[in-house]
Amino acid sequence: MFVKHVEFENYRNLKNSVFDPGKGINVICGDNAQGKTNLIECLWLFTGGRSFRGSKEKELIAFGETNAVIKTEFFSEGREQTIEINIEKGKRKATLNGVPRNYLSEIVGKFCAVVFSPDHLTLIKNGPDERRAFIDGAICQTDAMYALLLSRYKKILNERNNLIRYIPQDRSLMETLSVWNETLAAAGSKIAARRAEYVRKLNLPAISFYDGISKGRERLQIEYRMNCKADQNGDEKEIYNKTLEKLINKQNEDISCGYTTSGIHRDDLMIKINDKDARSFGSQGQQRSAVLSLKLAEAAVLGEEKKEAPIILLDDVLSELDVSRQSYLLTKLSGMQVFITCCEKTVSSENVVYVENGILSEDKEV
Ligand SMILES: Nc1ncnc2c1ncn2[C@@H]1O[C@H](COP(=O)(O)OP(=O)(O)O)[C@@H](O)[C@H]1O
Ligand SMILES: [Mg+2]
Repeated sequence: MFVKHVEFENYRNLKNSVFDPGKGINVICGDNAQGKTNLIECLWLFTGGRSFRGSKEKELIAFGETNAVIKTEFFSEGREQTIEINIEKGKRKATLNGVPRNYLSEIVGKFCAVVFSPDHLTLIKNGPDERRAFIDGAICQTDAMYALLLSRYKKILNERNNLIRYIPQDRSLMETLSVWNETLAAAGSKIAARRAEYVRKLNLPAISFYDGISKGRERLQIEYRMNCKADQNGDEKEIYNKTLEKLINKQNEDISCGYTTSGIHRDDLMIKINDKDARSFGSQGQQRSAVLSLKLAEAAVLGEEKKEAPIILLDDVLSELDVSRQSYLLTKLSGMQVFITCCEKTVSSENVVYVENGILSEDKEV
């Protein structure tokens, strides 16, 4: 897919402007704090996802204004499509191809993108929540039903947690707990099987990208590690049995803690470099390369499943790579529409846009 046109109204400091990117590599150039990341963030919002900077909706609206509108025309699924997002009163509302949608989730999967910014290093540095969110977000872009599975699991987990808190006062509720164990294990095993399958798909491209970025000096390994200790290649049935077994074994512990201590909400994506946990032992550079490889692999899997490449958003990535790694990256991205921010125009591209104080222009002298 590719983006043809973008329009902003009261969006952050980009004020009221338009952007007509080219099909290949688009370089977004400018000094610090001019609006480059704002532009990348805006493109990402068309996926229906939340801001990758963790910003609240109202932070997206230009200072002093009450609403912001962003619009895009893009080419995907063999035709031109449009998305318009209106941000007002802490909410976002989307219109897809002229039809207003009730939920933002209805546009997920229409505008596919993969984003990488220095903030994404938290994928390795932080706890398992972010790694699960990475896998879940990636699956959601190709499978709308998966988001429903996730919200169902969350609901069941809440119900079980509520029940657990009442058990010390009313032991007769123990009988009901076994039903919730089964329901939770059933919903959870579907999710875990899907996540493990996704990680298997991610594996080869991720290893290959890391190999390329590290010039063959280091090896990346990824593995979906289940809290129930089922094998990552295990099927849904095996995951169900092991999850249920653990839920039952930990019942008393759960009751004394007041929440569910086992289940797929405790699973993790293990990321290793040369057999060592990248979180504890990886250098900053290794961690960055590992996340970049995961993101590129995400794009490869997404492209394969959708039968068209997603757009690639790279914020402040180039300055961190030496020239040979930069050229490796750009070669790997050829054929896709890419948006890269940088302070100096180091990449040769026909499509360069300069950002100065929120104003986009094709010439530097603005
Ligand atoms: N809601 C907003 N309204 C107006 N300006 C904003 C808003 N949010 C951020 N900014 C401004 O945007 C600039 C930062 O933009 P950013 O895209 O992060 O910069 P960079 O070019 O370094 O990536 C800052 O000058 C900040 O004041
Ligand atoms: Mg920036």
